Amino acid sequence: MTQHGRRDFIVGISSAALLGACGGATSDATTTAEEVIEQVGETEGTVETVAVAEPTVDLNQIPAAKPTDWDAMAFNRARGATGAIPAAYMIKIEEEGGDTGHLGKHLPFVPEFEAPEGKLAIMWGDPSKGHAQHPNADRAESNNNEGHWYNWIRVRKATADAEEVETTFDGWPSISASTGTYAVLGGGDIADNGGKNTIYLADLPSDVQSGDTVRIHAHCLTHGEYVDFLVVP
Ligand SMILES: [Fe+2]
Repeated sequence: MTQHGRRDFIVGISSAALLGACGGATSDATTTAEEVIEQVGETEGTVETVAVAEPTVDLNQIPAAKPTDWDAMAFNRARGATGAIPAAYMIKIEEEGGDTGHLGKHLPFVPEFEAPEGKLAIMWGDPSKGHAQHPNADRAESNNNEGHWYNWIRVRKATADAEEVETTFDGWPSISASTGTYAVLGGGDIADNGGKNTIYLADLPSDVQSGDTVRIHAHCLTHGEYVDFLVVP
């Protein structure tokens, strides 16, 4: 169920329950509250309620611009729970240390690397923030032959009217027909260090310049979708 759907559902059942409990209260009395009232239990003649704060963003409508109170951890945890992240991985994220060890591992950052013109260099799991570094792996039995890498990255200028450009990666460490390419932080073999030195070179939209904030929406083959904002060097 979508977040909107769930909210509508909650308002619906709450209105009906409160109408019954209040013995004919007008609909105005049950639907004008700023907050969503969620029914959590009912005994004869009484309705137990709890206030659920409105989300600051619609989790199904990824914000185009970076909200002033942007919290990548909170946003991705909440959106992940709605299905953007596999349920089995959400369990790991919710375990102690899962924020930096699993969620932070999937958040993008810009490494010290001079990207080619028109490209944005991206890595995942910023060590300077204490996040685990994201490994990469080719298809193998250990990953159900699915592989472990980001297979698409969508970049758009963080404004309301902007062009989003998707770069796909159809393999790791080798690429065949996709538009994306890799580089290696510090040089050497891309497979060294569990593939953690891999730099993804994503296409920048034509309306993006140095210093712009861009929204990154990307998908790890095995761990789901993540959203964050970066500043283009
Ligand atoms: Fe992953």
